Amino acid sequence: MGLITLLSGNKSENLFLPAHGRGNSLPKKLRKLLKLRPGIWDLPELFEIGGPLIGEGAVAESQKSSASEVGVDRCWYGVNGATGLLQSSLLALARPGQAVLMPRNIHKSCIQACLFGGLTPILFDVPFLSDRGHAYIFDRSWLQRVFIKAKELEEDIAAVVLVNPSYQGYSADMEPLIKEVHSHSLPVLVDEAHGGYLVSQIRADLPKSALTLGADLVVHSLHKSAPGLVQSAVLWSQGDKVDPFKIERSIELLQTSSPSSLLLASCESSIKELIEPKGQKKLNARIEEAESLSEFLISHDVPLLQNSDPLRLILHTSKYGLSGIEVDKKFIDKRIIGELAEPGTLTFCLGFSSHKGLKKKFVRVWNEILKSSNSQQKFSLFKRPPFNVVSKPLNPCSSSWGSNFESVSLKESIGRISVDMVCPYPPGIPLLVPGEVLDKARVDWLVEQRCFWPDQISDFVRVIS
Ligand SMILES: Cc1ncc(COP(=O)(O)O)c(C=O)c1O
Repeated sequence: MGLITLLSGNKSENLFLPAHGRGNSLPKKLRKLLKLRPGIWDLPELFEIGGPLIGEGAVAESQKSSASEVGVDRCWYGVNGATGLLQSSLLALARPGQAVLMPRNIHKSCIQACLFGGLTPILFDVPFLSDRGHAYIFDRSWLQRVFIKAKELEEDIAAVVLVNPSYQGYSADMEPLIKEVHSHSLPVLVDEAHGGYLVSQIRADLPKSALTLGADLVVHSLHKSAPGLVQSAVLWSQGDKVDPFKIERSIELLQTSSPSSLLLASCESSIKELIEPKGQKKLNARIEEAESLSEFLISHDVPLLQNSDPLRLILHTSKYGLSGIEVDKKFIDKRIIGELAEPGTLTFCLGFSSHKGLKKKFVRVWNEILKSSNSQQKFSLFKRPPFNVVSKPLNPCSSSWGSNFESVSLKESIGRISVDMVCPYPPGIPLLVPGEVLDKARVDWLVEQRCFWPDQISDFVRVIS
């Protein structure tokens, strides 16, 4: 089947990203634009339009207006996802040779930035939920312990990155964490790829965006957590800890010289949707519908795990000894397509469109899956990853990545240094980064992880030869 044919079909229950649900909840103005003559919107950085880095024109005006409505100093729209803007942020925050402190459940884009920016990632361990195999949130005392250990590494730490909420929708109390980072006179970048809609502040019981809690830089993936087209994103900045000129230089370094005007229009319209009353009303309705769906599923014995994002449902498959990856395939057979299949869970992203007919079908399909699987408990507890409180790669990330390498079997890699990331996607969280040494504990853990992610983790690793 050709790509065009594939893109034209739509017979599934879309519980995956982008969150606009195959166009169902794209902002009205964008839908109108897309209904005009195809291609009419595909324009270069013409004088009147400009671009994210051009001081005048419609994009500049739009960025100014979005920043002011959200209550921050500046913002830049992005056309290469949260990936591109996180990477630009890191290059703006740290010089080659400096280090950046980040959690072990960091997205691979930040490790890539370390790689090509000559930065040292100091990775810190995070709490782990062994009943489902997820990284979890932490509090200020956890971060204080991290700082004590990180300082022992005697690196020149330039900034801290925090990730919140997580892919599965767990959210920490960010204010004390941001304060802790600031108490060390460091700037903090929050990867809020999954929390864009929190800027709407529509309900007091939802987590607050780090933007309202003093973070210096925040990145939103507008297709993951707002109704934007794929690749659309925004970087917000406030305060005086990060020089906007450095941010622009870094965006310039990584951004295409022809940013898509359609994607930029999508950035504008999806942000407006989150802050204007009509869009907020719609969002509120979606959240209420999601809560009612979740209550229904729980009342019908579907094992959902608690999180802070009503638009993400985490099905706890390992509670019944089932792999989320296998369960995902079975849901797909029944045309219910989830987003994040992991060894212990399957996370569904409801996004911004309605799923009115889903309740009963979901329960029926889940019960069929349970019945058809031989439900002897295969696994129920996941081993904690063997990470130290903090660690940095033994060899610099960039030179390791660029080294001559050979492939060796995972089991025979003990003592070798990796040139690559080992990184199941999604969620895109590296289990090993370039320059890290494969000690016995890591190899044993990776071998076990390979059993859980057979299609995603290879039996071989590339190591420095
Ligand atoms: C935590 C986190 N940050 C950043 C990204 C990158 O987002 P994007 O796909 O918009 O580049 C992802 C993607 O999965 C993510 O999970």
